[in-house]
Amino acid sequence: MSERTLVLVKPDGVERGLVGEVVARIERKGLRLAAMDLRVAQRSVAEEHYAEHKDKPFYGDLLDFITSGPLVAIAVEGPRAIAAFRQLAGGTDPVEKATPGTIRGDFALETQYNLVHGSDSPESAERELKLWFPNL
Ligand code: TYD
Ligand code: MG
Repeated sequence: MSERTLVLVKPDGVERGLVGEVVARIERKGLRLAAMDLRVAQRSVAEEHYAEHKDKPFYGDLLDFITSGPLVAIAVEGPRAIAAFRQLAGGTDPVEKATPGTIRGDFALETQYNLVHGSDSPESAERELKLWFPNL
């Protein structure tokens, strides 16, 4: 029944003081925090995390950004946690796709600075949780 997903509050979210806002929304939805850690991502971890995008034009900028300062990695747990957090986050483009009421829709303007990451499938969640929380 219960599953886990990886959430990142990206460096823009930490910089803007939105960690509490994101955590509050996760908790209000009924999801639980299984682990949470503030850290600066190593380049190698960022490369592996975003490996699916390695041939995209935005890949280099994305790696620079995600490693540019502290982020908060969270293992989130609950029924349908993967889809539930994607719903809370809203679409990738915070203006064209994310709707008001979502994290991105309420607080972001640019795709690169869309505040949060959430795993997009059970396979991604398993891979990403191993990468960010190997001891969980
Ligand atoms: P993606 O996995 O497509 O989006 P999501 O975070 O919603 O799963 O892309 C990963 C991140 O890459 C995205 O959150 C922001 C960045 N990105 C860009 O900077 N430009 C783009 O055109 C796209 C598609 C993504
Ligand atoms: Mg993605």
